[in-house]
Amino acid sequence: MPKQVKWTKKDLLGLEYLSRSEIELILQAAESFKEVITRKIKKVPALRGKTVVNLFYEPSTRTRISFELAAKRLSADVINVEVETSSVKKGETLIDTGRNVEALMIDVIVVRHNCSGAPYMLSKAVKASVVNAGDGWHEHPTQALLDMFTLKSKFGKLEDLKISIIGDIAHSRVARSNIWGLTKFGANVTVCAPEILIPKGIETLGVKVTNDIDEAIREADAINVLRMQFERDESGVFPSKMEYFKKFAITEERLKKAKKEIVVMHPGPINRGVEMSTEVADGPNSVILEQVTNGLAVRMAVLYLITHAEKE
Ligand code: CP
Repeated sequence: MPKQVKWTKKDLLGLEYLSRSEIELILQAAESFKEVITRKIKKVPALRGKTVVNLFYEPSTRTRISFELAAKRLSADVINVEVETSSVKKGETLIDTGRNVEALMIDVIVVRHNCSGAPYMLSKAVKASVVNAGDGWHEHPTQALLDMFTLKSKFGKLEDLKISIIGDIAHSRVARSNIWGLTKFGANVTVCAPEILIPKGIETLGVKVTNDIDEAIREADAINVLRMQFERDESGVFPSKMEYFKKFAITEERLKKAKKEIVVMHPGPINRGVEMSTEVADGPNSVILEQVTNGLAVRMAVLYLITHAEKE
């Protein structure tokens, strides 16, 4: 009999640091919570008496709302720290903010930060659990978990699926977390972008690299299309929006060459008319809004598991 896996980690910092069994545990728990969020009464008492703080140093719509709602659906108390109107603006460090929040007896800090590694630093400074809601270009673990959950719902498995991640790979924490997660399950991952947006050495993570968009979508079971992060183009090397659309955007025309049932994903927010046409974003192959719904179930699973972690 295989040893039953139990959740033992205080924090969720990235998929690089999780085993396949731990990821499976989250995806299984998310299945149960998906059922909960479709009930007439969508609330369970699993986190009654616990407090979750959302500490977002970068803008967010989906992730922040989703974590807030996940905590509320689990009956936790939730506090959203508005960084713009907090003492962060007076120069308080992340660690000091985290320690002060923790002094109020909170259980979980969900943090999004523009610096890679910020959640790791915070996790070392506080006893509360820390969940990474996206750090710099490093990882966005709950986005990849919800992407994997969505793929598993569609295909019944992740093994041997052909997944192409298309777009601004260089600046994408979503791409990195997806690569760590999907390759642990034996999926075949291809990354596709203009040369300038492919990080050097990415193939060492076990992915295929191409600059040919038609090749990336031809055999794919699913494509995960990333937002072009023009705000990160400090040296002015990005292609123009029009040029990018012409050469790399997912359009109905391009999808004619793909498998009929190809699944089209995007973590959001979408730049319509840049990386994807509106017809595709809202078309029959798109699962973009299903991803958002699944994100709620996945984040409930993560909050549940880290607050019920067993000692190793
Ligand atoms: N996918 C994602 O992280 O979206 P937000 O930036 O709106 O949270």
